[in-house]
Amino acid sequence: MASPPTRTILFTLLVFSAIATLSLAQTPPRFNCSSTSKCHSLIDYISPNATTIGAVQKLFQVKHLLSLLGANNLPANTLSNFSLPASRKIKIPFNCKCNNGTGLSDKRPIYTVQSGDSLDKIAEVTFARLVTFLQIQIANEIPDPRKIDVGQELWIPLPCSCDEVDGNRVVHYGHLVEMGSSISAIAGRYNVSEETILKLNGIADPKGLQASQVLDIPLKACSSVIRQDSLDFPFLLSNDTYDYTANNCVLCQCDAAKNWILDCKPSPLKPSSVKSSNWSSCPTMACEGSNLLLGNSTASDCNTTTCAYAGFSKQTIFTNISTLNTCPGPSDNGNGASRTGSQGLNLAYLVAITHVLALSLLLIQ
Ligand SMILES: *[C@@H]1O[C@H](CO)[C@@H](O)[C@H](O)[C@H]1NC(C)=O
Ligand SMILES: *[C@@H]1O[C@H](CO)[C@@H](O)[C@H](O)[C@H]1NC(C)=O
Ligand SMILES: *[C@@H]1O[C@H](CO)[C@@H](O)[C@H](O)[C@H]1NC(C)=O
Ligand SMILES: *[C@@H]1O[C@H](CO)[C@@H](O)[C@H](O)[C@H]1NC(C)=O
Ligand SMILES: *[C@@H]1O[C@H](CO)[C@@H](O)[C@H](O)[C@H]1NC(C)=O
Ligand SMILES: *[C@@H]1O[C@H](CO)[C@@H](O)[C@H](O)[C@H]1NC(C)=O
Ligand SMILES: *[C@@H]1O[C@H](CO)[C@@H](O)[C@H](O)[C@H]1NC(C)=O
Ligand SMILES: *[C@@H]1O[C@H](CO)[C@@H](O)[C@H](O)[C@H]1NC(C)=O
Ligand SMILES: *[C@@H]1O[C@H](CO)[C@@H](O)[C@H](O)[C@H]1NC(C)=O
Ligand SMILES: *[C@@H]1O[C@H](CO)[C@@H](O)[C@H](O)[C@H]1NC(C)=O
Repeated sequence: MASPPTRTILFTLLVFSAIATLSLAQTPPRFNCSSTSKCHSLIDYISPNATTIGAVQKLFQVKHLLSLLGANNLPANTLSNFSLPASRKIKIPFNCKCNNGTGLSDKRPIYTVQSGDSLDKIAEVTFARLVTFLQIQIANEIPDPRKIDVGQELWIPLPCSCDEVDGNRVVHYGHLVEMGSSISAIAGRYNVSEETILKLNGIADPKGLQASQVLDIPLKACSSVIRQDSLDFPFLLSNDTYDYTANNCVLCQCDAAKNWILDCKPSPLKPSSVKSSNWSSCPTMACEGSNLLLGNSTASDCNTTTCAYAGFSKQTIFTNISTLNTCPGPSDNGNGASRTGSQGLNLAYLVAITHVLALSLLLIQ
């Protein structure tokens, strides 16, 4: 019979090999990212226990509660003690940085080890399998995964990407696959082709999809005119989300129903004080050479003039004034410009007349 210390060692080895096998069997989420930029990303999180939105904010170190609320389209007046039942999926917004072909959350969140924690518990339970213990070990250069100390700070490397997809800037969203879901259901829900999902995630067999797998889903972003030299470039929002930018002075929303055009206006918040900018009040947000404020537009005859958000610098907020011809001209194919008021009505008339004509032709035949 083995002596007690030998048995302990054997048992420990057994437990660790079992854990290692389990973790290897589960594909660690890693998203390709070949660009060198930084960007915003989203990832799903399901807390193992009932919790509050404030606790989730703290766990993932989301700087502003408003960003977390906006990513989930929760009302901006939601308090941090807003309770979340276990199994409620929450989208976490975070900064992504690409390095060596992979995208990882930019040195955040930092988790402080508590008594009773193991790397495996932190990966599997606290962060609900968004990472594996091995990824935490590698990211933090931990020589022995069994040796972590209470109070030690660990960077939790969440998967993400900043790559363009089919030539478009997108919001990469780490989608947590639900039990019984399928590639085609996910493709339908986010209006992304199955082919793109399979290719992006290197999936050969869509039937092998597993619950709680994290998929890279490229979400279409609202288009905007944000300058490349803006501190928040590329500011991307996916459908049905909002966020504050320019040190909280600007509130932007993305609504697919509004032609996928980023909709920004002055926010009701006071400017947040950050290292890069130090604003005692928000700078003016009027478009030069007009009396339009950020987010305003005026229509005259066929033209709609809009004052749009174009980014910010340490000193100022950039705006962009543009005029869109909204008349249904001869070259108009009916799906480019946004239509308002009488122009929309004119188009409806045209369509109706075309239908009547077509119908008459059919009847004549
Ligand atoms: C949240 O906190 C506010 C005040 O801070 C309190 O009025 C409210 O009852 C709390 N809500 C919950 C669900 O605990
Ligand atoms: C970059 O990735 C390759 C393969 O993915 C790996 O072999 C190499 O060690 C990585 N380099 C660095 C500096 O992390
Ligand atoms: C969840 O709740 C159980 C019991 O209420 C507790 O033991 C466990 O530590 C909690 N887990 C987390 C991640 O907070
Ligand atoms: C889904 O995507 C296709 C191709 O990008 C597009 O033509 C279609 O309008 C989209 N559907 C919706 C509901 O946005
Ligand atoms: C991800 O990058 C690796 C290394 O460059 C490449 O072999 C692999 O095909 C890429 N996967 C996808 C899904 O593009
Ligand atoms: C406004 O944005 C458009 C599209 O990006 C750009 O072509 C134009 O130069 C911008 N105008 C100003 C005044 O910055
Ligand atoms: C945008 O989000 C709304 C609200 O969730 C949803 O009803 C709509 O189908 C979405 N549109 C697209 C094109 O994803
Ligand atoms: C921020 O502004 C205050 C007063 O406006 C000034 O005293 C302080 O030096 C500024 N800090 C930086 C870092 O610019
Ligand atoms: C211009 O924008 C401001 C702030 O969003 C709003 O209060 C005001 O009603 C708008 N004016 C017009 C003419 O649309
Ligand atoms: C509308 O815009 C066009 C150019 O886009 C310009 O030539 C025309 O004068 C404008 N008309 C009005 C009424 O502003």
